[in-house]
Amino acid sequence: MWEDIEKILLRETDILQRIEDLATQIQRDYEGKDLTLVTLLNGSVIFVAELLRRISLPVRLECLRVTSYSGTESTRSLRFYEPEMPKGKDRHFLIVDDILDTGETLHAVKERLEKDSQPLSLRTCVLLKKNVVRTRDLEADYCGFDIENEFVVGYGLDYEGYYRNLPCIATLKPEAIERRKL
Ligand code: IMP
Ligand code: MG
Repeated sequence: MWEDIEKILLRETDILQRIEDLATQIQRDYEGKDLTLVTLLNGSVIFVAELLRRISLPVRLECLRVTSYSGTESTRSLRFYEPEMPKGKDRHFLIVDDILDTGETLHAVKERLEKDSQPLSLRTCVLLKKNVVRTRDLEADYCGFDIENEFVVGYGLDYEGYYRNLPCIATLKPEAIERRKL
């Protein structure tokens, strides 16, 4: 796995430190509120596990499986696997995703949850935010790190299903991208 890495952008210790800050901020903002983290699988699985354990509030977790990426490009059409959305009555929802790129994913999930779940409030939290012109006018309410417009893997993020287990955020060598191309 490591031989495919081109450059490490964020190390595990820095990521965990930043998640600690995000959890503190979220805890302060949702004190006394009924909070549900709605996480998007598979990419957010590691981020949400670290985040959740650092929030000392009564908090619930809901998981939605969605896919949009094909290779190293966003496909701009989102597929939902769950037929029903979680119940939002009297609850505050915070969507947790790995990365904000074009904005299509968060836009579609927000729209669907607003319509079907109707939570008391709906905000967004991402580990990474790419410095790109988004196709949707959307910003994350909580963000771990801003990164340049590069395809990254690790800490839950994948390339063709691989590299999610990498304990840091990194770019891939072009030959690794080529070799795993479907
Ligand atoms: P968006 O819909 O374009 O904002 O993209 C969001 C989704 O695309 C994320 O949930 C990721 O799963 C995936 N994605 C975007 N950029 C990357 C990347 O650099 N590496 C791996 N997955 C990415
Ligand atoms: Mg994803």
